Formats: sequence, structure tokens, C-alpha cells
Amino acid sequence: MTTKTPPPDAFADALAAARADAEGRLSAAEDVAAVDALSHEVLGRNGSLTALLRSVGELPVEDRPAAGQAANAARVAIETAVAQRLQDLSSGELDARLAAEAVDMTAPGSSRRAGHLHPLWTVERDLREIFHGFGFEIFEGPEIETEALNFELLNIPADHPARDLWDTLYLAEAGSIEAGAPRPADDGSILRTHTSPVQIRAMRSLGAPIRVLMPGRCFRYEAVDASHGFEFFQVEGLVVDRDTSMADLKWMLEEFARAMYGEGTATRFRPGYYPFTEPSVAFDIGCLVCGGTGCPACKHSGWMTILGAGMVHPTVLRNGGFDPAEYQGYAFGMGLDRLTLLRHGIGDLRYLLGADLRFLEQFSDGR
Ligand code: PHE
Repeated sequence: MTTKTPPPDAFADALAAARADAEGRLSAAEDVAAVDALSHEVLGRNGSLTALLRSVGELPVEDRPAAGQAANAARVAIETAVAQRLQDLSSGELDARLAAEAVDMTAPGSSRRAGHLHPLWTVERDLREIFHGFGFEIFEGPEIETEALNFELLNIPADHPARDLWDTLYLAEAGSIEAGAPRPADDGSILRTHTSPVQIRAMRSLGAPIRVLMPGRCFRYEAVDASHGFEFFQVEGLVVDRDTSMADLKWMLEEFARAMYGEGTATRFRPGYYPFTEPSVAFDIGCLVCGGTGCPACKHSGWMTILGAGMVHPTVLRNGGFDPAEYQGYAFGMGLDRLTLLRHGIGDLRYLLGADLRFLEQFSDGR
């Protein structure tokens, strides 16, 4: 027996004290790190309980088995308590994190608003696609046009009523508005009143054969109402080639009407007049509202006019640089606004260029 070694009772006391101390501190430990530190201090290689376990060897031989058993039991008890405390703490920490990071799955979502295409544009896009199928390319001209291209070169004479100041928006001579005496610019620039001047531009810059679709914004001096705007959109078409005929024009427009409005769409041609086409026609489709029986939308005629067309006038061909003895062509022009109103059954043109989102959001499906 050495003096260092406590007598068996003293050993049991030391063991009990170590265990009580460890358990007391464990329950006071507030986080995982504190438990780890404590377990190291008690159970580690230089830990207090480890030292006690080692000292069993120094007890009298007959006391060793009981002391060893008691010391091991204490170690297992402390280890179990440490594990338990660790589990409690970490599940507490998890609970706290879960509570802090909780997502309320029943809360109303915050939706992201996506934009969508404007109904005028979806109709124009459909036109582009249909005519692309016929081999047409897109050709665009300027919105500020010369009087010559908008009128003269299209065979519209100077005394034609369409040129009236009441129809045409002339650009003012610089400074004349400020001077209180507005007058049209000397260079004759106007806001184009239709897309037909682009026909001349296309003929002059493209060689035959020509197959172009010419969409664009147009302007007229109009009193704005449900069916008239001072700003509107047209889509013009032009084909120039050898041996084109009225039959080609007729076939193409009928095909177009079926592609746009469905296989069974009824169509008809009526004589029309435009200075830049000869002969000229108006092209009608069976009323989309009543199907042809007659209703207010078609003024009880059963038909709706969707475009004007004709064989390109020889003078216009010549102005575009073609010899009418060699080349012929046909042209057509339609109002995009009207096609859009018809497609959606909209009763007032003014909605289209207004900024009323309640109206526009109805077209969020891109149709
Ligand atoms: N430019 C004519 C209009 O504004 C439409 C049209 C185009 C007619 C081409 C015939 C040929 O009404």
C-alpha cells in the first residue's frame, strides 16, 4: 500500500465525488462545446476519472476488483450522461435553428410579374410567319417619308383628297412653330400616311424577283374615335416578277385568309380603287362575329373587308425602276389594328395604344 493511494472507502468517495461533479457540470453546460470540454477534462487521457481508474492498480489486491468495477461503472455512467447531454443540446440547437429558419408553407406566395407580347405584335408576328411560309422577307421603310414617295411616285396626283392637310401630318419648317406661323417643311417631309411608299423603296433597292412584307406605323390627321386613330399600323405586301397575274394575287390572299382565320373561311373580292394598283380590289372574309348571317359588326352584310390590293400600276413599276412590259407585280395592304380588333372581338381601337394594364393583361397568353 502506498501513501498516495486512498483507502478503499476514500476511493469510493473520490469516485462518487468525481461523478457528481461531472454530472452537475454536465447539466449546467449550455452548448455542445462546453460538454466536449468537460468530457475531455474528466474522461480524456489526462482526465480526472482516468487518473482514478489508473490508481486502481495501486490499491490492495483484494480491493482492486470491486474498485475497478465501481470505477468502470462511474466511467460508463459519465459517458452515457455526456452522450445524453450532447444529444439534448444538439437537438435543442436543431430545434432552435428549425424554429429560426422555419418556412411557412401556407403563406401566400410572392409572384414575379412577367411581361408579355402586345396583342398588335402577336398579330403582326402571325402575319410575318404566314407570309414567311410564302417566301416573303421583311422590308421596312421610315416613318418620316417624303411627299414624293408617299404620293407622287405612287401615282397619287397633287389634287388627290388624301393629300389634304386634314389627312396628312406635315413636318413643320424648322423654327416656324416657335415663330407662331407654322408651315410645312420645304423638303416635303411628312409622317407617312400608309406603308405603300415602302413599295417604291423595296423596288429601288431590291432586284426582281421581289417578295416582301412591309409592316409599319402610319399616321393620319384624324379625329380619334373608336375606329380611327391618328397613329395606326399597316402591313403591306409586294410581289414583283415576270408573269405574275391577278390569279396569283387571288390565290395568295385566299391562302392567307385560311391560314389566318381557319380552313373554312369564306372569302370574296370586290372591285376597288387605289391610284397605285390597276385593277384594284377589296378583299373580304365572312364575318367573324356572325359567320355570314349578318350582324352589327359587319353592318348586316355578312362580310368584313380586311385589306386592299391590286396589280401594281405600270407607272408605279416604272417609278420603282422596272419595265412594265417585262415585269408585273401585285400589292396588298392591311390595317393591323383592325385585324387585331377582329381577332379578339375588341370594340374600340383606342384600347390598343392606351396604357391600361387591365386591358393589356388579358393578352398575357401571347395570343
Ligand atoms: N395603301 C392602301 C391604304 O392605305 C392599301 C393598299 C396597299 C391598297 C397596297 C392596295 C395595295 O389603304
